[in-house]
Amino acid sequence: MSFLKINNLSVDYQMRKETIYAAKNVNIEVNKGEILGLVGESGSGKSTVGNAIINLIDEPGKVSGGSVILGDLNIHENSESIINYRGNKIGLIFQDPQTSLNPILTVGEQLIETIQTHLQLSKEEAKIKSINLLKEVGIKDAEKRFDNYPHQFSGGMRQRVVISLALCCEPELLIADEPTTALDVSIQSQILELIKRLTKERNLAVILITHDMGVIAETTDRVAVMKSGDLVEIGITKEILTNPLKI
Ligand SMILES: Nc1ncnc2c1ncn2[C@@H]1O[C@H](COP(=O)(O)OP(=O)(O)O)[C@@H](O)[C@H]1O
Ligand SMILES: [Mg+2]
Repeated sequence: MSFLKINNLSVDYQMRKETIYAAKNVNIEVNKGEILGLVGESGSGKSTVGNAIINLIDEPGKVSGGSVILGDLNIHENSESIINYRGNKIGLIFQDPQTSLNPILTVGEQLIETIQTHLQLSKEEAKIKSINLLKEVGIKDAEKRFDNYPHQFSGGMRQRVVISLALCCEPELLIADEPTTALDVSIQSQILELIKRLTKERNLAVILITHDMGVIAETTDRVAVMKSGDLVEIGITKEILTNPLKI
């Protein structure tokens, strides 16, 4: 049994003069401990699928069909479970670490705030947990860096901080939408290696969204290919890269 099951998921954006069918009957399963890549050209519907998993589709869009099962819970069925799950069971990483962090709070303050929102921990316990998380994602001098503001980190280090925030409530599913696209090429591999390590160590189910076949080849176990809202191919990355569908 797969941990995450996306069944016949459809998302429409209802425009004034037309409807954009951004995701059409998409079926994807992801197991614990594996990285599923979601790839396709710009506008093919990748972010739409990623956001629809957590019901984060903005107006004028809506999830028009399908279901998302996480563990044994249908997470679209009631709004309470989705709100809980978004913060707790599901960690999110987006393209631009700049916009994921609050510039006026230190990274320590942001970690403590997020941890205390979701877990019953004292401030001191949350601080210890925060420093351990910063260490886990490869930030040196974590005790000192805890008191720094986001602008005092390089782009790559900021994305590590974002990853620590995504991990702070012990998620089981991680959704990373173009997590390395805004980073220098030399830094990209380090972040991808970090995601790979965390997937194994924490037995996470990971959806890695990217337009970059190089990222897919380097990082993912399986890959799902989207084109114009359709999932056109899904399988083991090595097999798909050596024998791609002609479309
Ligand atoms: N908020 C929105 N309003 C209207 N159309 C949207 C919105 N978000 C995405 N779309 C449309 O849905 C399609 C898929 O977009 P998206 O999921 O962002 O693609 P990708 O992440 O693969 O680049 C595109 O045609 C895009 O224009
Ligand atoms: Mg996108």
